[in-house]
Amino acid sequence: MMTINDNKLIFEQKKKQFIERIDLIAKESFNNEQKETAKQIIESANENNIDAVYQLVTQRVKTGFVFDAAPEVNHNCVALISENESLSITSTEAVHNEHSLIIGENYDTLKNLLCTYINPSTGEGMIDIIYIDPPYNTESAKKDGNDYKEEVEAAKFVYRDKYTRDGWLNMMNERLKLAKKILSNRGVIYISIDDGEQGYLKVLCDEIFGEKNFIANLIWKCRSSLYYTEPLISIQTEYILAYAKDKSKFSLKTFDKDNIDGDEKALEGFFFNRVKKLYDDEDYSNNDNDPRGPYKTSGKVRNDGRPIYTVTSPTGVQHTAAWVYSPEVFQQLIDDNQIYWGVDGSAQPRKKSYFKDYIGKVSSNLLYDEFVITKNGDKTKKEKIFEVGTTESGTKELKDIVGENKFPYPKPVELIKYLISLYPVNDCTVLDFFAGSGTTGQSVMELNEEDGGKRKFILTTNNENNIANDVTLERLFRVIHGKGSKGEHISWKYSNTVPSLINNSVRVFDVEYHELQLYDFEKANKLIPIAEIQFKKLNPNYKIKDRFDIYNELAALNPYKKV
Ligand SMILES: C[S@@+](CC[C@H](N)C(=O)[O-])C[C@H]1O[C@@H](n2cnc3c(N)ncnc32)[C@H](O)[C@@H]1O
Repeated sequence: MMTINDNKLIFEQKKKQFIERIDLIAKESFNNEQKETAKQIIESANENNIDAVYQLVTQRVKTGFVFDAAPEVNHNCVALISENESLSITSTEAVHNEHSLIIGENYDTLKNLLCTYINPSTGEGMIDIIYIDPPYNTESAKKDGNDYKEEVEAAKFVYRDKYTRDGWLNMMNERLKLAKKILSNRGVIYISIDDGEQGYLKVLCDEIFGEKNFIANLIWKCRSSLYYTEPLISIQTEYILAYAKDKSKFSLKTFDKDNIDGDEKALEGFFFNRVKKLYDDEDYSNNDNDPRGPYKTSGKVRNDGRPIYTVTSPTGVQHTAAWVYSPEVFQQLIDDNQIYWGVDGSAQPRKKSYFKDYIGKVSSNLLYDEFVITKNGDKTKKEKIFEVGTTESGTKELKDIVGENKFPYPKPVELIKYLISLYPVNDCTVLDFFAGSGTTGQSVMELNEEDGGKRKFILTTNNENNIANDVTLERLFRVIHGKGSKGEHISWKYSNTVPSLINNSVRVFDVEYHELQLYDFEKANKLIPIAEIQFKKLNPNYKIKDRFDIYNELAALNPYKKV
C-alpha cells in the first residue's frame, strides 16, 4: 500500500529530476536566465500539477514541430512477425542471397526489426541503408483520398494517401524515430518526397536525425518533358532527402584518387561514365608530367584592385600584374609546381586544377538522365551516359514485369540502384519500409548481380488492396524466376546473358497479433520461444537473449492502435 509519505517522496524525487533535466537542455534552446525561471516555476508546482507544469515550461524548447498527441499503441496486444512459408520465394541455387519481405503495418514491423537488428552488446543498429518512398500526401489525394491523375486511373492497386498535415507528420515522426534506432552508425537514410511536404519533412528530419547529419537534398528530374497541366510552372522534379546516422562516421563511395590518371580501367560501375564525361568535357592534360596527374589550367590568377607585383617564370620572363594571391602564397604555388607557364615555360602564369580533386565530387545533388551526342561523319548518336530514370520509365519497367499498370508511380530501378551504389560497402543490409511494388528489392538484386555484392534487402509494405501479394511478391518472384508465379511469360529480361536473378530467395513474413495483458507471464512464456524462432529467421545473426530481455522486447511490440 502506498502511503502519503511515499507520495511526498515520489513528488520530491520527480521535482529534483525535472530540475536536473532543465540543466541538461542545450544552451541554444534555453539560456541560463530562462533555465533559472523554468526551475523556479517547477519549484512552485504542487503534487497535482507538476507533470503539466514541466511539460508546459519545456514545450518551447522544441525548435521544430509540436505535434498533436502521438498515435497510441495497444497495450494489451503484441505484434509479432510470422514466416509465411507458402509465400516465400525459393532459389534453386545452393549459394544465394537471402532477403525478406514483411507484409504488414510498418510501425509494427519496425518494432520487430528493433528486436532483431540491434547489436545486443553495443546497442548499435545493424541496418546500413534505408530508402523510403512514403505516401506524398498529395493535394489531389487530400480531396478524396485516392484521386490519382489520368495516367494512373487504370492502376488497380492504390494506397491511402490522405492525411492532414499534422497527421502525416505524426505518422512519419513515429516511424522515423524507430528507423533512426536501427540504422548503423555508418548508415544512411534516403527519403523520397515532392514539393507538397518536402519543407515540412526536412524540418522533421533535422529534428530527428540532427541538422549536422544532413547530407543533401537530392533533386531528381522525374519528368523528362514539360507538364502542361501545371497552372504556372511545370514541375519536373522530386526530392530525396539524405541523412547520415552520424555524419562523422559516414563516407560515400569514392575512387582511389592516387590511382586515377585518366585510365578508364581504374573506374567502375555507375561512376565510370560520369567521371569519363568530366574528363572529356574539360581540357585536361599533363604537359609537364606532374605526378599529381592530369590538370586543367585557369588564368584567374590576376585580379585588378589587388597589390601589383612581379613574378618571374622559370625561363626568366617577368610578369607584372595585380595577382589574386599574396606574394607568399604565389611563391608557395610556384615552388609546389602548381603554376603552369605555357609549353615554353614563359607564358602568363595559370593555376592548375587537378582531375583527381574533382572525381570525389561526381555525386552531384542533381539527378537526371545524362546523354552525350557523338558525331561520326554526318551521323549523330545520342548515348545515355548516366541513368536514374523517370517516373515514366519506372512505370514502364513495372508494367513490363507484372504485365499491367498495376501500381501508381513506382520509382525507377536505376534511381534506387544509384542511391544504394553510393554506399562504400557492397555487403550490407538495405531496408525499405514503404516498399510498394518492391523496386528497392529488384534494385538490390540487380546491383549484386552487376558487382558481385552480397547486399540483402528487407522490404516491408502493407497489403492495402492486396498490393503486397499481387504486386510486390509477384514482381520479386518474376525477376528471380524470369517468369510469373503461374508460369506467365514476361517481356522483362535482366540482360541477354542473365535472364533472371535466380541466385536470390525471399522469406515472406506476415504480422500476427497476440493478446497479451500486462503481467500475463504464462502467455508471455508461450510467446517467447515463438518470437525467438521468428527473429532468428529474420536475422540469422540474431542472438537469443536471456528470458528477462526477451520479455521486455515482447512488451515493446505493442502495435499501433487503429482509430
Ligand atoms: C509511394 S508507395 C512506394 C512505392 C515504391 N517506392 C515503388 O517503387 O513501388 C508507398 C507504399 O507504402 C505503403 N504504405 C503506406 N503506409 C504504410 C504503412 N503504414 N505500413 C506499411 N506500408 C504502408 C502503401 O501501401 C504503398 O504501397
